[in-house]
Amino acid sequence: MTMHIDIITCLPRLLESPFAHSILKRAIEKDIVSVNIVDLREYATNKHKNLDDYAFGGGAGMVMMCEPLALCIESLMEHRKYDQIIYMTPDGETLNQQIANKLSLVENIMIICGHYKGIDERIRQTYITHEISIGDYVLSGGELAAAVLCDSIIRIIPGVLSDETSALTDSHQDFLLAPPVYTRPAEWNGLKVPEVLLSGHEKNIENWRLEQSIERTKTRRPDLFKKWEEGH
Ligand code: ADE
Repeated sequence: MTMHIDIITCLPRLLESPFAHSILKRAIEKDIVSVNIVDLREYATNKHKNLDDYAFGGGAGMVMMCEPLALCIESLMEHRKYDQIIYMTPDGETLNQQIANKLSLVENIMIICGHYKGIDERIRQTYITHEISIGDYVLSGGELAAAVLCDSIIRIIPGVLSDETSALTDSHQDFLLAPPVYTRPAEWNGLKVPEVLLSGHEKNIENWRLEQSIERTKTRRPDLFKKWEEGH
């Protein structure tokens, strides 16, 4: 199965680079995922090709209009049945590893990037199945957030990472942060790599990594540590 992702944006060029390098590029080349950037401007209906208008009720900031978005979404829906139609917005559900894991299993995803003060509420009511925020801060548009979401989804699809197990040992899988990692040289700037990692003793290494993960999570993210404890 090839996963298909359509991203609707009024700034298509902003989304070129994230998919043109490294892991995401390779996933596309291997046909594990296809990503289609859709230029919303092509669906603008008035002569100035506007995509936004003043907010009813006044106040600063423009709102993305219903019509171009509806035309664009409907035209994509004619060709595909979407498992999720996602709107990137700071008032959505905060992205976490569990959401990324779930989304990595579906076949067709549409992502809508908002701009200005966001999109008309009626588009949200009519089409959107999931609203996602990438954190409690406001970006100037949904594009970078969409790129973050796509990266988090695509990298964990089986076959994308060359070492199949490596995504499983990431921070946040299991609610634990990843342990510290080291590479050569064994001593740098007077700092030595922990002895156990040089021992070749797999069981001891595994235990050490788990201890370190637990310790890190306890001190840095007590909220996650609680969740991990609940699962054990
Ligand atoms: N658009 C603007 N800010 C955002 C955020 N934090 N997450 C997702 N989309 C956004």
